[in-house]
Amino acid sequence: MASLQFMINANPIGIFDSGIGGLSIARRIREILPNENLLYIADSAHAPYGDKSESYIYQRSSSIIEFLLERNAKAVVIACNTATVSSIKQLRANYSIPIVGVEPGVKPAAFKTRSGIIGVLATTQTLKSTSFNALANSFSTHVKIEVQPCPGLMEQVEALNLDSDITEQLIKEYVSPLLARGADNIVLGCTHYAYLEQSIKKIAGPNVEIINTDLAVAKEAARRLDNASLLTTNTVPGKDEFWSSGAPDIAQKQISQLWGETVNVLQM
Ligand code: DGL
Repeated sequence: MASLQFMINANPIGIFDSGIGGLSIARRIREILPNENLLYIADSAHAPYGDKSESYIYQRSSSIIEFLLERNAKAVVIACNTATVSSIKQLRANYSIPIVGVEPGVKPAAFKTRSGIIGVLATTQTLKSTSFNALANSFSTHVKIEVQPCPGLMEQVEALNLDSDITEQLIKEYVSPLLARGADNIVLGCTHYAYLEQSIKKIAGPNVEIINTDLAVAKEAARRLDNASLLTTNTVPGKDEFWSSGAPDIAQKQISQLWGETVNVLQM
């Protein structure tokens, strides 16, 4: 029995996103859980999720979890706000392994705001979901929440255009209305935007705080694994395995650049 538990604990943590945005969370998990094996899925062939229906996103999330389970994932981190708000409830009802998600950081922003106005940058689907609106409503007596859908922005990150003029223009277009309405905290409600954090900060100016929940999600994943006695007992650095449903050569370039080292990406 003890050896079976030992084998389960050595199994990987599955992490997925519609593309490469979730690498921002995977990186934090790697930092705080250095000995865990990680299995990352970029569903780039089906991105963006932000303009898809809830049922489409649920189906994608579900087949990715099946794929992760076939590879013995002991837990799943949905490193995508859109997939979390669209599907986590139903996924948790269907699968018994721990499933951790990410949703826009309205709560930390609500605690930090001085103007009482917070801005949320996210996908169209996240902002219209029942789950996000319930979250926003639960804070609406304390703060004013201004939302801004950002079509086209995740595509710039997928194309690795992190510093291009088009990206800067899009950021200005999306951040300016939030500033005009008095937001002093801007929530990065899509994991792709973590790679634009510096550009968003530059445009928002020094008086605006950017809320990024990557580290909080990684800590929550660690806490859930610990509670379920699933943390690895390995004492050597864990392995990273990357899969993509997108074109292999592009995926290889994307993931290597954002991960900061040349990695091999398997075709899903
Ligand atoms: N990275 C995803 C998120 O956090 C969404 C990007 C997309 O597929 O539209 O919401």
